[in-house]
Amino acid sequence: MMYSEKVMDHFMNPRNVGEIENADGVGEVGNAKCGDIMKMYLKIENDVIVDAKFKTFGCGAAVATSSMATELVKGKTIEEALKITNKAVAEALDGLPPVKMHCSNLAEEAIRAAIDDYRRKNGLLPEGSENNA
Ligand code: FES
Ligand code: FES
Repeated sequence: MMYSEKVMDHFMNPRNVGEIENADGVGEVGNAKCGDIMKMYLKIENDVIVDAKFKTFGCGAAVATSSMATELVKGKTIEEALKITNKAVAEALDGLPPVKMHCSNLAEEAIRAAIDDYRRKNGLLPEGSENNA
């Protein structure tokens, strides 16, 4: 199995590791296949994600995709961040080996979960869209 240099870089030197105190949105998701867990913290001002941090208990690909996901969401509006797919995260890392693609789902789901949390706390969830993650 071959990892791109970017994957190795983000695994060895993950960006934005940690927590944000009083985060506006926090999302925690788990990968049913392996039991790995990712927690994402977002600071949101005027609909823009101004900071993002993460904690991931998981494999190298999960750490690298968390790291890249926090880099990608920073400076984005909520709408833009919701459009970030696991494929986009993997592409930003110059790809993942096919057997590790499922690991990138955590990053996409963690972004969504953190944004959902923000919306829920601020009464911004459209009626009926509440998902009990
Ligand atoms: Fe095995 Fe992720 S569950 S590689
Ligand atoms: Fe679990 Fe990669 S092996 S997220």
